[in-house]
Amino acid sequence: MNSQLIPINSLQRHVAALQDALVQAVGDVIASGHFVLGSHVAAFEAEFAAYCGVDHCVGVANGTDALELALKAAGIGAGDKVVVAANAAMYGTTAVLACGAEPVFVDVLPGEATLDPKAIEAVFQNHADERSGAGIKAILVTHLYGRLARMTDICHIARTHGAMIVEDCAQAHGARAGDGRRAGAFGDIASFSFYPTKNLGAIGDGGAIVCNDPVLAMRARQLRQYGWGGKYENALMGGRNSRLDEIQAAMLLVMLPRLDAWNARRRQIARRYFEGIRSDSIELPPVVGEGDVAHLYVVRSDRRTALREHLSAHGIQSDVHYPVPDHRQPCHALRYAHVVLPTTERDAGRVLSLPCFPEMTDDEVSRVIDACSRF
Ligand SMILES: Cc1ncc(COP(=O)(O)O)c(C=O)c1O
Repeated sequence: MNSQLIPINSLQRHVAALQDALVQAVGDVIASGHFVLGSHVAAFEAEFAAYCGVDHCVGVANGTDALELALKAAGIGAGDKVVVAANAAMYGTTAVLACGAEPVFVDVLPGEATLDPKAIEAVFQNHADERSGAGIKAILVTHLYGRLARMTDICHIARTHGAMIVEDCAQAHGARAGDGRRAGAFGDIASFSFYPTKNLGAIGDGGAIVCNDPVLAMRARQLRQYGWGGKYENALMGGRNSRLDEIQAAMLLVMLPRLDAWNARRRQIARRYFEGIRSDSIELPPVVGEGDVAHLYVVRSDRRTALREHLSAHGIQSDVHYPVPDHRQPCHALRYAHVVLPTTERDAGRVLSLPCFPEMTDDEVSRVIDACSRF
């Protein structure tokens, strides 16, 4: 048996081919003497906005800030309700709570792991019936695992009920719908993370907010820098220091032109898994098209622990994204004990991520297929 470990991801391999360009770009920033909100951030913001097909991009410090500040820029605040999925590691829920708003958890579609439009419609009906004061103000859509959520249906529901859409695109850089629109261009405002393992990742932390509305963009720009309208003049409450720095922007400028090729390779690996893995004990996600950038290749099994052990014995790393749904996290105590989300809860005990990164060799992909098919 080939005993070489197949990692779940390898950032070392990812940056190896870019080493010289990245070092050169760091040198350029150092030589410029301008380290915060300089020409590299401005250039990256322009290029990333164009890539996403939107008018504005605001670089921030990480994806968590991007989410929270996007919600705040959209006017989400105390007492507002925001629809959110409960299967995305608390990122969205934390951001909603940080705004003082209330998450309204909605179940996801089996296999797809993104918000179920019918379930969203149902909560709008329930909350309208309740006449409980503040209605649902926004839908926070996470394009989980790299797969675009059902945006045609979700946009229709949001329009019907006068709710905003905030997209969390941290796992879906470049995912494209049939009409050519990319993740981040469907809703009112969207957030991205450039954490190193993302499809577009920096050499450290980074994030961005994108939108078409100039007013939302201006608010996001103010919020990422203390709430300043001008120097030492605080126009907005809720601001902080969350600037994307020049070095990370320079790194991202090197990487962005390669994103489509990386995504294509991820998709190729996902397709090979879909076509090659044959096991009665492993459910495969639906086959991928351009609307999926295969950030993670997530299978499901009732025998997950045994599958992990089997893969490990074959030298293959795996991971669980994610084991505890948001409404069952210990930090909430029993606050959401009444919430029941059958698909989300079932998935939490069954999902398993297989290695899927652009630098995987064909031989490694074959070994994963072979090991899974023998389970
Ligand atoms: C879906 C999602 N949202 C938000 C985040 C937060 O991004 P960051 O780690 O850059 O704060 C992440 C990843 O880490 C994520 O996967």
